[in-house]
Amino acid sequence: SWTMVNIVEESVEAVRSQVGGKRAVCGLSGGVDSAVAAALVQRAIGDRLTCVFVDHGLLRKGEAQQVEQDFVAATGVDLKVVDAADRFLKALDGVTDPEDKRKIIGREFIRVFEEAAREVVDVHGEAVEFLVQGTLYPDVVESGGGTGAANIKSHHNVGGLPDDLQFSLVEPLRTLFKDEVRRLGEELGLPQEIVWRQPFPGPGLGIRIIGAVTHDRLDLLREADAIAREELTRAGLDRDIWQFPVVLLADVRSVGVQGDGRTYGHPVVLRPVTSEDAMTADWARLPYDVLQRISTRITNEVADVNRVVVDITSKPPGTIEWE
Ligand code: XMP
Repeated sequence: SWTMVNIVEESVEAVRSQVGGKRAVCGLSGGVDSAVAAALVQRAIGDRLTCVFVDHGLLRKGEAQQVEQDFVAATGVDLKVVDAADRFLKALDGVTDPEDKRKIIGREFIRVFEEAAREVVDVHGEAVEFLVQGTLYPDVVESGGGTGAANIKSHHNVGGLPDDLQFSLVEPLRTLFKDEVRRLGEELGLPQEIVWRQPFPGPGLGIRIIGAVTHDRLDLLREADAIAREELTRAGLDRDIWQFPVVLLADVRSVGVQGDGRTYGHPVVLRPVTSEDAMTADWARLPYDVLQRISTRITNEVADVNRVVVDITSKPPGTIEWE
């Protein structure tokens, strides 16, 4: 639309005047925010932007490939991929506190990122002065950067940056809400799967495992999550649902029965919500037959999960994520 064209032009101009002739790096998370921020900055400064994708091993099924293949195909952006899954798992070993998880993931992310950025310098022989981030208005407000809001959760893309951070931030989406970012993404020609992807937290599946994060638990949650997303898509409900976290209660076991045998497995929680901006949310009334298919498939296809429950708490008092 006319207004979106204006927002693109104004944002591109603002980025150009901020970055000047310098170089910038952008971390791609797999989500729409960083993708749109990167595409916008790419339009403004072209190949003086290098994107870095830190694969922290906490992504959902297929998401790494979507960044490495689809996003690069759509934008032609210069992308550097870092496989840091082992490093993150090691740093998270035995950690159960939600805020500790966030701080560790945020800290490791910045470190891996800075290492990658230094390598970008080596290639181009020029300092990288700017870091592009897909921070949205609700992130700013919830981290206390807006008017009078408390620090509810430390969002790692806003707070928790180390003091010796060597970059100046470029945050072209800082005044926008999610729906505006999506329209911006469409205007920039990004693929539909990226533009319409539901929001996903920076710490990823790390804050959807209640308990310590392990390789096996991640695999299990990835399978359950993929099934839930697949059935939601099959039912044509993707755009009606704001977010659909699937949460593994890794330290809880309950008794079940399957075939002739008693099982003693873990529950997963389905947390589908509707929302305008994530500040408040309502639990989504998914059709029973969709819930039924998800439940049957998860208990049949995911070993060690013998119970599926649905979270019917709005925000407030619940948050969207369980941690
Ligand atoms: P809550 O759980 O606070 O989440 O209702 C609000 C929105 O923020 C996302 N979220 C995060 N995003 N880093 C992020 O980048 C985080 O640590 C984080 N925690 C929550 C959540 O998925 C929802 O969209």
